[in-house]
Amino acid sequence: MTRIVHGKAELRDLVRSWRAEGTLIGVVPTMGALHEGHLSLARRARAECGRVITTIFVNPRQFNNPDDLSRYPRTLESDAALLRQVPVDVIFAPDVDEVYPEGFATTVSVGGVSEPLEGRMRPGHFDGVATVVTKLFGMTEAQRGYFGQKDWQQLQVVSRLVRDLNLPVEIVGCETVREADGLAMSSRNVRLTPAGRATAPVLCAAISAAAADIRAGQSDRMAIREAAETMRRAGFERVEYIELRDAETLMPSDDPRRPRRMLAAAWLDGVRLIDNIPV
Ligand code: PAJ
Repeated sequence: MTRIVHGKAELRDLVRSWRAEGTLIGVVPTMGALHEGHLSLARRARAECGRVITTIFVNPRQFNNPDDLSRYPRTLESDAALLRQVPVDVIFAPDVDEVYPEGFATTVSVGGVSEPLEGRMRPGHFDGVATVVTKLFGMTEAQRGYFGQKDWQQLQVVSRLVRDLNLPVEIVGCETVREADGLAMSSRNVRLTPAGRATAPVLCAAISAAAADIRAGQSDRMAIREAAETMRRAGFERVEYIELRDAETLMPSDDPRRPRRMLAAAWLDGVRLIDNIPV
């Protein structure tokens, strides 16, 4: 049975009883509006942990655009119906005041890996993510945290955070779930027009082609330029970045012996899409 919990005191009593039994607790942090990508994390947690908590909290601190925050879909009932099918043990869906009570004054800020790419385009975003994730780990007392590779930089930020603060959580990075045409699943995809939805898979196709060209010996810069050109021609309004980076530090990398990642962000139909792939 899946239980919906709104209060942190009720959650604490539950997780303390599970821990007393020696059960392995997994947490899947989300902002709701769930799709197959989120559910794949919950299923992985279900397979690996004795108890699974999915958190649903639209975290105001990680939005740098008030419009984006107010427009973010809130669909607790349909989310709960999906999570009951997994099933998870608890859906923790706190109010903003429960997470950030009056007087709240702490920010967790991860240096280095938070700074480029999404960090540069969305100032303060990763401080908001790091702060809420630290709190969610504290409130759930989970030993495992499940995150998607879809948000590759976020996954590296959370991994760095856990190592730097010696948090007793193991981070599990899960494969990006895609539509049949390659588009990475995202809560934002529903905002695309039908024409935009038809164009959107070009993002994944273009960076995949660039990665293949680089592996075949083409220069990084040339391959990236061609990918950006392909996307513009297909109808993307703006290519914010396409970058080949060290997969862990997210710093520029031209060392093919280290694991590298190609990451991209682009606008289509006024919707900001991101994706990334290994190179
Ligand atoms: P949200 O965007 O709801 O995503 C929740 C989790 O689902 C993240 O770990 C994300 O990487 C993963 N996810 C999203 N789309 C995916 C896909 N197509 N395939 C695999 N995993 C996917 O990311 C956040 O929320 C927030 O920043 C959060 C971590 C909850 C902190 O507020």
